[in-house]
Amino acid sequence: MTVGTSVGSSAESMARLGQLGRSAVYGPELELALDLSHQAGRIQMDHYERLEQIQAKGPRDVVTEVDHLCEGLVMKAIQERYPSDSFYAEEIGKVAATSAAESGRVWIVDPLDGTVNYANGIPFFCVSIALVAEGRPVAGVVYDPARDETFAGAIDGPSLRNGEEIQVGDKELLEDLVVTLAVGGRGTIRKRREALRAIRAHRSMGSSALTLAYVGCGRFDVYAQGAGLSAWDVAAAGLIAERAGATVTNLEGKPWFDLAYPAKKWSCLAASPRHHAAMLAMLK
Ligand code: IPD
Ligand code: CA
Ligand code: CA
Repeated sequence: MTVGTSVGSSAESMARLGQLGRSAVYGPELELALDLSHQAGRIQMDHYERLEQIQAKGPRDVVTEVDHLCEGLVMKAIQERYPSDSFYAEEIGKVAATSAAESGRVWIVDPLDGTVNYANGIPFFCVSIALVAEGRPVAGVVYDPARDETFAGAIDGPSLRNGEEIQVGDKELLEDLVVTLAVGGRGTIRKRREALRAIRAHRSMGSSALTLAYVGCGRFDVYAQGAGLSAWDVAAAGLIAERAGATVTNLEGKPWFDLAYPAKKWSCLAASPRHHAAMLAMLK
């Protein structure tokens, strides 16, 4: 596989990408995000289990050459195509629009979500690309290259997985729910114990964006994570889950997306509308 080969280079692949996302207003942006996420995904699969650099970023965090390669590719293409938009990504931080005329729009990118999994050869990771306009996510793509699964959503359209519409789970009983729970802070042990007693099973996957996208198609019934998240972890997948019918807030029950929240201090609770309030009451 050639690194950086555009999946959007042929009419056929463009047509395929067109079916993967649907938006009347943000069609071109969604298509660009789809194309770039697939290009980054190719880089990830080319380097999978063949990494040259795994560097510690903090006590529990690593970064690899692939995080940087993917972020560079996505940023360059977005800046070329939309010079008036700004860019905000995990490794590089905030980058102002390259054109003097600023649109107020910002692309929020996690070039590789699940880096610890990736660096350890665990095939659960993704690329996440979102466009934010007027302070809210309007288009988002989460691409899982290990399974070749593309989740996409837009503010004016449905959420899709590989072109098919998805919906949040519709289980009736709390006791049937499969949830992912990463809650921290005061009273954590009691909260976790109470929540785990109420539901069927807990699974912890190591990629917040992919796990949250899974809420959109019912693979997970609930995704709850306390502080530790940043805008790039949830911007695309939160929109995808929401457009698939999930109720999404932060763990205080406030809006899940607000660029005023500092990096690493975001939290998220996504669940079907039927169970969101009960989960919030347990985890708040
Ligand atoms: C991390 C993963 C992980 C979550 C962390 C994130 P990264 O992102 O999504 O599941 O628990 O809070 O920082 O570092 O792999 O991009
Ligand atoms: Ca991340
Ligand atoms: Ca990352």
